[in-house]
Amino acid sequence: MKRLIIVAVFFVFTMLSCAVGKSVIKPDSDISAIKTNYHSDKTSRKMLMAGNWKMNKTVSESLSVIKTLKKAVSDVKDVEILIFPSYTALQAINNETKDSNINIGAQNLFWETKGAFTGEISPAMIKDTGCSYVLIGHSERRQYFDETDETVNKKIKAAMTEGLIPIVCIGETLEEMETNVTFQVIEKHMKEGLAGLTTEQATSLVIAYEPVWAVGTGIPVTPNHAQEVHAFIRKVYAKMYKEAADKIRILYGASVNPENVSAFMKKPDIDGCLVGKASLEAESFSKLIKYSK
Ligand code: 13P
Repeated sequence: MKRLIIVAVFFVFTMLSCAVGKSVIKPDSDISAIKTNYHSDKTSRKMLMAGNWKMNKTVSESLSVIKTLKKAVSDVKDVEILIFPSYTALQAINNETKDSNINIGAQNLFWETKGAFTGEISPAMIKDTGCSYVLIGHSERRQYFDETDETVNKKIKAAMTEGLIPIVCIGETLEEMETNVTFQVIEKHMKEGLAGLTTEQATSLVIAYEPVWAVGTGIPVTPNHAQEVHAFIRKVYAKMYKEAADKIRILYGASVNPENVSAFMKKPDIDGCLVGKASLEAESFSKLIKYSK
């Protein structure tokens, strides 16, 4: 009987370890092979907390959250706050946030300026609703709407021509992570998606590292994994655009919540977070924004 109990305990323990090992994070095997000796100065960059509401909330639901959020974060000065509501709520949210410390952005755009492109929204239309930012190349757009590095590149240039700041999302899928090609994927996204920018453009955009396999799961990658990838991103960017690499902000995005945010924010190359689920309610997003308090 005693032996049976020992075997049972051992079995349960092994299964749990496997489950944890699988879902929390893969060992940083592919990452540790790369010596990331690039050190940037985080104090020169303003931290940015962005909430991506994806396809959630009607206009009235959006307004209700933003009103509460506005009050809750009115005293925040050291962190830039940004919300990406749905297109339909942009104008109303802009009216509500105009005189506040909350900026707004659109979740996508089309690169053409006008014409017969039914269902698309131009950079000027986005700018007109009061947006200062636009999300480009989110993994859900890559996955469901055929977004590629080529279309990402066209969108970045179109956004910047209109004076919008792109937040460009890059990151590996589960399959890519499991086959140890994370760094190759990141490098490809950057070399193709971020090609051909002027120094000024290269300096003002924001990159978001979103490991696709951890988005929406509630289980983020470890802060060490994120830091290693962020440092790699900065290193690749330094090769592409020299000193712009020190200036740009690189956000981490995948299952960030008020409990785990500060561990990410302690890392030297993580300049903020792009948050999905935990940004949908004012209470959790305001806690997250005030991570250092
Ligand atoms: P979650 O925070 O829900 O994982 O979403 C992350 C994301 O996709 C933000 O753009």
